[in-house]
Parts: sequence; structure tokens; C-alpha cells
Amino acid sequence: MKILIINGPNLNMLGIREPGHYGKETYADLVKKIESYCSDKGIDCECYQSNHEGCLVDKIQEAYGNTDGIVINPGAYTHTSVAILDAVKSVSIPTVEVHISKVEEREDFRQISYIRLAAVKTITGHGTDGYLEAIDFLTENYKK
Ligand code: DQA
Repeated sequence: MKILIINGPNLNMLGIREPGHYGKETYADLVKKIESYCSDKGIDCECYQSNHEGCLVDKIQEAYGNTDGIVINPGAYTHTSVAILDAVKSVSIPTVEVHISKVEEREDFRQISYIRLAAVKTITGHGTDGYLEAIDFLTENYKK
């Protein structure tokens, strides 16, 4: 089972940016937590972060044919990017949408999610544990 974990813009600033919404864990802490969780379960994982929409599209396309599941937090591109939605639709890889904060209780502009149209599940407001829940969901439902 190979899972790709993708984080979009500003998620490299975890631990620094708005701790009230995103907590105190850094991006490095998050990667460590995911890698150790996956290694305990025998899951092959790769963590990728970019601030650039095209790089996120490239990464999703590169997963075609070699990845069993994607966990994605597109950050602000959640609310704007048809390109990322189309990339996920193109590769037909089961994809879970994760948000650290409870987006449904935030601003109106955060209520639109393009990626949700292609996601098999959405997890919001569980902090960084949401990524681990997404990994569990993919392994329970799409294990290879
Ligand atoms: C976020 C929520 C988005 O609205 C925001 O732009 C982010 C992070 C979250 O994880 O809660 O960058 O995706």
C-alpha cells in the first residue's frame, strides 16, 4: 500500500502560522508523525508540500499508476483550484481531503471546496490527527 500525503500553500508554516487555528506542531513534526505511523503499519508513504499550484498538479499526475491513495490538504487552493480537482479526477486514485481547522465554522470563502467533488472522504477540525484518520480510512477501504 503506497500513500502520498500532499500539503498545499502555507502548510510549511505550521507551528508559526495562526496557532489558534492550526496548533503548535511544525510541518517537520507532522511529517515525522505521519512517517512513524505509516512505518508501524507497514505502509509506504511519501510526504510532499508545495506553495505552487502547478507543482501540486504535477505531483498528483506523477502518482498515476504507482500510488494506492492520496491524502491532500490543498490549503487555500481548496477554495479556488479547479486545476487540482481535475488532476485528482484524472488519476482516479482514492483521495481523502483533510483540513486541520474546522473550516465549516470559519469564513464564507472557506465554505467552497473544489477538491471535495473528487474526494472519497473529508476530515476537518481534528488537527494533525486528521491525516492519520485519512490514512486509516484509505488502508481500511482500499488496501492492496
Ligand atoms: C486549511 C484551511 C484552509 O482554509 C486554509 O487556507 C489553509 C489550511 C486547514 O488545514 O484547515 O491553508 O486547509
